[in-house]
Amino acid sequence: MRVPLIVGNWKMNGSLARAGELAAAVVSGVGENGGVETVVCPPFVYLPRVAQALAGSAVYLGAQNVADQEQGAFTGEVAGDMLTDVGCRFAIVGHSEGRTHYAEANALVAARFVAAQRHGLTPILCVGESLVEREADDTEAVLRRQVEVVLAAAGDDAFARGVIAYEPVWAIGTGKTATPETAQQAHAFIRDVVADCDAESARSLRLLYGGSMKADNAPALLAMPDVDGGLIGGASLDAEAFVAIVRAAASV
Ligand code: PGA
Repeated sequence: MRVPLIVGNWKMNGSLARAGELAAAVVSGVGENGGVETVVCPPFVYLPRVAQALAGSAVYLGAQNVADQEQGAFTGEVAGDMLTDVGCRFAIVGHSEGRTHYAEANALVAARFVAAQRHGLTPILCVGESLVEREADDTEAVLRRQVEVVLAAAGDDAFARGVIAYEPVWAIGTGKTATPETAQQAHAFIRDVVADCDAESARSLRLLYGGSMKADNAPALLAMPDVDGGLIGGASLDAEAFVAIVRAAASV
């Protein structure tokens, strides 16, 4: 019922030449859409170059963030209509690196989510607990807060046109992956929180796992009933490794 979604988050990596090559390699590796939706999210400045490489392919373009505002004096921000202008269909919001390094608060993340939807972009909301929060048994409270603030800002059916990525902070870029059971438990919890507001959108909502997902651990994670795809950092910088994850999603 839910089409698997595999998203590559290139973070702040690459160069103009490398972005073009990587996108072209992903396009040729993915080929026809094979029942999986694939997205790549390059740094802002490389979006037009990557859009060129993706033209006519089954791979969609996404941005790593989106401004909460429309236009004007917001130095360093990029507005939703600028992103659609260069061909973006998706935008990541609330990544833990923004929350941690740049103090992005839940309220700002929710405003970014709303702005993405206003421009017809599908927001990919990142949520997840830190190691300290997990050890203090706060995981569910943290996830609930991060999701509810978006429901409050965007409406009960916020996730009818949105995606959530569960990314435990302790698993991002660390080589430590959540076990499939840990991921499943968190995903089922998040789906329940959404269902409390709107059962229909909870059923159709795609929940991605993120945090050191690689070709070798992807099949077991993707086999979980509430894991509908992945948000891939490190492994998305290697076309072969990324395409192997797309293939794993196609075969579950
Ligand atoms: P990782 O990053 O796959 O390198 O752990 C995932 C993410 O931060 O989106």
